[in-house]
Amino acid sequence: MKRLEYRGYDSVGITTISGNKLFVKKDKGKIDEVHKKLDLDDLPGSVGIGHTRWATHGVPSLLNAHPHFDCTGQVAVVHNGVIDNFLELRQELAERGHVFNSETDTEVIPHMIEEHLRQGCSLAAALKHVTTRIHGTYAIVAMSTSEPDKIVCTRDGNPLVIGRGMNASYVSSDIPAFLPMTNRIILLLDGEIAIITATEVTIEKLSDGAPVVRDVVKISWTADQAQKGGFPHFMLKEIHEQPDAIRNTLRLRPDVIRRGAELLSDAARIFLLAMGTSGHAAMAARYMFSSLARTVPTFELASDFADIVGRTLTDQDCIVAITQSGETTDTISAVKYARSFGTHVLAITNVVGSSITRLADHVVITQAGPEIGVAATKTFMVQLTSLAQIALALGEMKGVLDADVLQDKRKALEAVPDIVSNVISLQEERARRLAGFYYDAPSLLFLGRGISIATAREGALKLKEIAYNHAEAYSAGESKHGPIALVEPGYPVIFVAPRDETHSKIVGNVMEMKARGASIVSVIDSSDQEIAHLSDHVFAVPSGVPAEFSVMPYVVPLQLFSYYVARRKGYDPDKPRNLAKSVTVL
Ligand code: AGP
Repeated sequence: MKRLEYRGYDSVGITTISGNKLFVKKDKGKIDEVHKKLDLDDLPGSVGIGHTRWATHGVPSLLNAHPHFDCTGQVAVVHNGVIDNFLELRQELAERGHVFNSETDTEVIPHMIEEHLRQGCSLAAALKHVTTRIHGTYAIVAMSTSEPDKIVCTRDGNPLVIGRGMNASYVSSDIPAFLPMTNRIILLLDGEIAIITATEVTIEKLSDGAPVVRDVVKISWTADQAQKGGFPHFMLKEIHEQPDAIRNTLRLRPDVIRRGAELLSDAARIFLLAMGTSGHAAMAARYMFSSLARTVPTFELASDFADIVGRTLTDQDCIVAITQSGETTDTISAVKYARSFGTHVLAITNVVGSSITRLADHVVITQAGPEIGVAATKTFMVQLTSLAQIALALGEMKGVLDADVLQDKRKALEAVPDIVSNVISLQEERARRLAGFYYDAPSLLFLGRGISIATAREGALKLKEIAYNHAEAYSAGESKHGPIALVEPGYPVIFVAPRDETHSKIVGNVMEMKARGASIVSVIDSSDQEIAHLSDHVFAVPSGVPAEFSVMPYVVPLQLFSYYVARRKGYDPDKPRNLAKSVTVL
């Protein structure tokens, strides 16, 4: 459960079965806090379910913490997702005498199971009946004293994966939870139910009870990758892993990249869909595709795609869905919607077997390894890497660049891991020092031009996410159309200013801010004396990175700055408030 805590951390609970009795410990708070109070390890039995919660229905509290129970205390359930029609179900159940203890949508499930068990159903049959009545998205795991050797689980729209060990079985919403025990996984798909004992896993289709034969898949992630490995936080470890993550992604099979590019070359229109940090990778990709393949895709937030573009979709269009987790509901919903028009889908994700992989015509699996920190860092790098590779392949296919130019760009991309490594080792101490200088700034402005708007946005997002400083990012061109009104002496403005075609214009923007007394931090090419002289502080990036790949090294000082601001303020960068690693609600 500690290894799953990054998915939700406002409350925690565990229930086990022993001697035909359920034992429970749960409370509001992070695992360590609750464990200190209740000793979560001290529960009898070898069959159990646990949950770390990210509140949707009902505040974080002891009563709203999972697992939830039926009236008899014999059935326990944990659930991720949202049951849309829970109010109606709750009222029906209450009218039949059921007593509810929480404000959650989840609690209707154990009460419904209770009714079916009373009518003589098995636990699996009872859960099947429940799925015919509930609407929404869910991953549900249930157990009952009536069948004390098993747990049953089902899913629709929320992740759930089964692990097979030696005389032990596991089920979890993410693979790292059971990685130290096993790397042999069985995927459970939407609309299936699994009946799990220590030695056996049986999967059936919910619709007709047909048995499903599913192979065990061995995954390459190791348990060590999901540990902090001597770093104080996962986020810092993952920042340091970025050079290797890029290297490993550059080793993707060329045919995997080529197939992605083919899908795009056949498309009438290309839409890049993503949320949050993945959206920033998409923004950067627009520049890469424009420059390397003379194609300009449209970027839309997945959450708004159906509303804005939806009605115009056709089977000639292609979507590139970018999501590190492969489970973001906004992105999954947009893709499902587009599929109903026959639109093609290329998915870029870091998780084998995730929901997006089953919705796409073609999938590129990035090679970051497990990312535990809620703030995305190395998965952002590998998204950029694979998008750069696809843009290069598309450029080659379309014959829009000279072979020599393409060759130089490829060589430059190969050099990016070493440059990122250099930036980490030379700029980390400076990031820590500047964090001490700016940590209590109530507001900061991040500015860039061209592809660096994406870098600026990612820098501002990181700072907001983990350090809770207000930060805004703009195109430096747009800054004088409004945001500059915020600037007064001492106001921090962070410029992302590589030496690309935007350089002379951004020099002008730096001067405008300086003239108004802004405190200027710039991320610049190490040879750039001009902006260095105008700035109060600089982060230097080695020369020679082409603009198309500049986001990768230029974002690193901003990731490190946010990390150290969060630490300076005493926050845990791995577990920012109100956020979860995968956002599986709309
Ligand atoms: C990034 O630091 C955030 N945690 C968040 O914005 C994230 O990028 C977004 O929720 C999308 O996630 P995905 O890549 O798993 O789809």
